[in-house]
Amino acid sequence: MAAEFHIHDIVVIGSGLAGLRAALEAKRHGTVAVLAKLYPTRCHSTAAQGGIAAALGNEEPDSPEWHFYDTVKGSDFLGDQDAIEVMCEDAIRTVIELEHMGVPFSRTPEGKIAQRRFGGHTRDFGAAPVRRACYSADRTGHAIVFALYEQCQLAGVEFFSEFHVLDIVVRDGKAAGVIALELATGKLHAFQARAVVVASGGYGRLFKTTSNAITNTGDCLSILFQRGLPLEDMEFFQFHPTGIYGLGILITEGARGEGGVLRNRQGERFMERYAPTIKDLAPRDMVSRAILQEIREGRGIDGRDFVYLDLTHVPEGVIEERLPEIRQFCRVYLGIDPSDSPIPVVPTAHYGMGGIPTDIDGRVLSDERGNVVRGLYAAGECACVSVHGANRLGCNSLLDTVVFGRRAGIAIGRELKYLEPSTIQDEEVKKVESDIERVLSRKGKVRTAHLRRALQECMMQRCSVFRSESSLKEALKEIGDLREMYQEVGIQDKGRVFNTELTEVIELGHLITLAEIVAGSALQRTESRGAHYREDHPERDDRNFLKHTFAFSTDRGILFRFKDVTITRFQPEERRY
Ligand code: FUM
Repeated sequence: MAAEFHIHDIVVIGSGLAGLRAALEAKRHGTVAVLAKLYPTRCHSTAAQGGIAAALGNEEPDSPEWHFYDTVKGSDFLGDQDAIEVMCEDAIRTVIELEHMGVPFSRTPEGKIAQRRFGGHTRDFGAAPVRRACYSADRTGHAIVFALYEQCQLAGVEFFSEFHVLDIVVRDGKAAGVIALELATGKLHAFQARAVVVASGGYGRLFKTTSNAITNTGDCLSILFQRGLPLEDMEFFQFHPTGIYGLGILITEGARGEGGVLRNRQGERFMERYAPTIKDLAPRDMVSRAILQEIREGRGIDGRDFVYLDLTHVPEGVIEERLPEIRQFCRVYLGIDPSDSPIPVVPTAHYGMGGIPTDIDGRVLSDERGNVVRGLYAAGECACVSVHGANRLGCNSLLDTVVFGRRAGIAIGRELKYLEPSTIQDEEVKKVESDIERVLSRKGKVRTAHLRRALQECMMQRCSVFRSESSLKEALKEIGDLREMYQEVGIQDKGRVFNTELTEVIELGHLITLAEIVAGSALQRTESRGAHYREDHPERDDRNFLKHTFAFSTDRGILFRFKDVTITRFQPEERRY
C-alpha cells in the first residue's frame, strides 16, 4: 500500500494538554498538524481529576515562592530549580489565561476561582497545607482539554485522529518528521516538518495496577531511545496513594483535600504518625509508602492488602458538588456511596517523572552536556525538564503541560526561520513498512496479552514502590527472558484495517524497552530519593546522587551518564512534613 506524504511546518505528536497547548502557540507561526493516538478529546489528560496548581491566593494567603519551595522539597531536591521557578512564577498567568479561554473552573461564593488543598502544597515553607489547586469539580483535565481543543480548532490546527506513531525521523542532528499508521485504513503516512513536538504522554501501562489509560505505552520515548537519544531519570515512577482496590482507577487527592482521611484496620488515621504536620496531605511518595507499610505490618483492612479512604464525615453536599465523578466511580465500580462507606484503596502507578530530557524551552537534549537536537521539542509527561525531580506534587502536572507546552510553541516561533524544511525519504518509509509486514507475518504461539501481563506483574512486584538490588536484578533477568519470548509472539489478524493486534504487539515491544531502562536506572541508583525507595539503601545520598541519570542505548546494552542538578535557591535539607 503506497504511503501518503504530508508537509507541515510543525507536527505535534499527542493531543493531550501539552500537545494542544504547544499546537495552539505554534500555530501563530506556521501550519500545524496534531497526530492523536485516539480521538483527540479522548486523550489521557481528560482523566486528570483534582486540579492545576497556582498560588492565586483566592481562599488563603499564598505565594509563587512557597509554591517553588514546595515543589523543590516535593521533588526530594532532584528537580532543577531554574525550571521549577519558571513554572511556579508562570502558574498564575497560566490559570487566568485558561479561564479566559473558557475553562469552567469551580467558584468561591464571591465568584473567584475556587482552590483546594493538595498533597505537599503548603504555606510559609511547610507550616500548614494551603489551598492552591484550582479545580473544575473533579474533572479538571477534561475541562481544560475541551477548552484548548476548541481554541485549536478556531486557530486552524489540523488534527489527524487515530494515527499511531511508528517512527520519529531524526537525521544529521535535526528532526525531519514522523511516520504514522492510520488505523482506519492501515496506510502509512509520512509527516514532513521543520519542527516536531513530542507530547505523547506517559507509560503507566508498564505496571499491573495503574491509573493510566490503555494507550499509555510510552511509544515515543522508546522510539527516540532506540534512535540514540537519552532518557532521563527513568527510575522515578510515581504511585498515587489512592487507586480503587483491585482496579487502580484514580480517586483524586482532592478527596483528601476536601477532608477525606486514610484509615487502617484499627480505624486509625495512620498518616498522623508518618507526617505529623500535614498528615494525609503529605506528598505521594510518602503516603504510598505509608499505606504499604501499614499493609505489610498487618494493618490493612481485615488484614488484607488495602486501606480505607474515609469521606463519610465530609458533608454530602461537598462530595456532590466538588467530587461528583469519584462518587459516580464508587457507585459504578464498587456499588458504594462514599458518603456512607469508606473506599478501599491501594497505591496505583500514576506518573513517570522521567522522560525525554529538555531544556526550559522544550528543546530536546541529545546528551547530558546540554546539546540539543535541532527542530525537536518535547513537553508534558513524556518529557523531563525536570520540574518534578524524584517525586511530583499533585496538580503540578497539568501546570507543567500547559506552561512547557506553551514555551515549546514560543521557542518554535523563535527558531522556525532557522529550521530548514526536511524530507522523509522513501527508504525510511519502506523500512517502517517492512517492519509492519514482519510483525504481520509472525506465526509464533505466544500471545501479546499473556506477555504484557507477565511484564506488568514483574514490574509491579520487583520495581514499584519498594525496590532492592535483588528485586531489580531479578526484574532485569525476567525482562530479558520476556524480550526473548517477544520474538515468539504470534499475530492472528493479518489485515491492515483497525488492526489493534498489530499495534499491541508494537506497543509491547516499547514497554519491554522501557521496563529495562526503568529497572536498569533504578539498579544503579543506590540511594532512596522521592519515589525511588531502595530497601537496601534507605537513606538519601546527596554526596553521590544529587544528579540526574541519563540512559543511552548502545550495542553493549544501556549506558548511564549523569548530570548535576541545578540548584539556584534552596539547598537540600531533610524532608519532613
Ligand atoms: O489526585 C489527582 O487528582 C491527581 C492529580 C495529579 O496527578 O496531578
